[in-house]
Amino acid sequence: MATSEMDTLIEDRINKGLKNYWYPVLPSWGVHDAPVGITRLSENIVLWRDEDGKINAIEDRCPHRGARLSLGWNLGDRVACWYHGVEVDKTGTVRDVPAVDSCPLEGQACLRAYPAEERQGAIFLYFGDDPQAEPCDLELPEELSSDDYSSFLCTAVWKCNYRYAVDNVMDPMHGAYLHAVSHSMASGDKTAEMKARKTDTGFVFEKTTQAGVNFDWVEFGESGAMWLRLSIPYQKKYGPGGPFYIIGFATPMDEEHTRVFFWRVRKVQGWQRDVWRFLYRDRLEGLHWNVLEQDRIVLEQMSPNARDHEFLYQHDVGLSRLRRILKNKAREQVEAQLTQAAE
Ligand code: FES
Ligand SMILES: [Fe+2]
Repeated sequence: MATSEMDTLIEDRINKGLKNYWYPVLPSWGVHDAPVGITRLSENIVLWRDEDGKINAIEDRCPHRGARLSLGWNLGDRVACWYHGVEVDKTGTVRDVPAVDSCPLEGQACLRAYPAEERQGAIFLYFGDDPQAEPCDLELPEELSSDDYSSFLCTAVWKCNYRYAVDNVMDPMHGAYLHAVSHSMASGDKTAEMKARKTDTGFVFEKTTQAGVNFDWVEFGESGAMWLRLSIPYQKKYGPGGPFYIIGFATPMDEEHTRVFFWRVRKVQGWQRDVWRFLYRDRLEGLHWNVLEQDRIVLEQMSPNARDHEFLYQHDVGLSRLRRILKNKAREQVEAQLTQAAE
């Protein structure tokens, strides 16, 4: 295959989202009784809860003539298409074709099913290259898996490719400028030396000249999902719990839309945890939304094909490194698929 063709496939894979990972796709409160249709990694998916409240997720395409199943009915262990009533179960197998006697479509496994898990108030789905393959384990960072921490999930849809949202978090220096007028990032130097440091699951990109003052470090990790972690110091008046951690995920919807998930976390227990939870809801949540809006406004209005016309400098080493990691993974995935297709 010509290099340029290969490059296009790799670019397409990164733009739509890498496979073989878990991604948060919706907050848990996003699915109640009715089926819900979403687009993630450019794939249309229908989610619904069965009688036990468990999430099921399959391709959102009726095997009969392609209506979106998410427009239909939740029958518990299956969904029924609104158009002519075909019923499909959670494995993607057609269970009933009510309009026709003994239709050969019955019993056929027509649609892809997505492994689903709910963690920390969000629904995660696994996007495997091979629909039949077992999903990898999903291990979340300790801020989301240990009882010592207490978190709130904040999620929003941004009209930009997810890669801009990832680059944005990998760039701690923007805190001192874009968020200079904010409750948590108003102090500290406007310049810094920065360097990257390897970790077990990825790497940290940090200021060498300042720590514990502003948004001074960020970490990329992969442990079944790709996540970003950072912390920002909090002034005393924001109550107990020490620094404020953010665990972030940028889930590709399609090539122009991203659903961001930011868990806002403090390591705090007992009555102090109650204080933090009250303060967050009462005082802090609005302030944090203001900060997030600053990010959204810039990212949604980046110049067309911004990534093709950049002049990166030392503070962009973190995002360049992550771009290389993603590109290498995309190449591996594309090559594996081409090999499989050739066999
Ligand atoms: S398109 Fe769904 S039943 Fe006909
Ligand atoms: Fe920001």
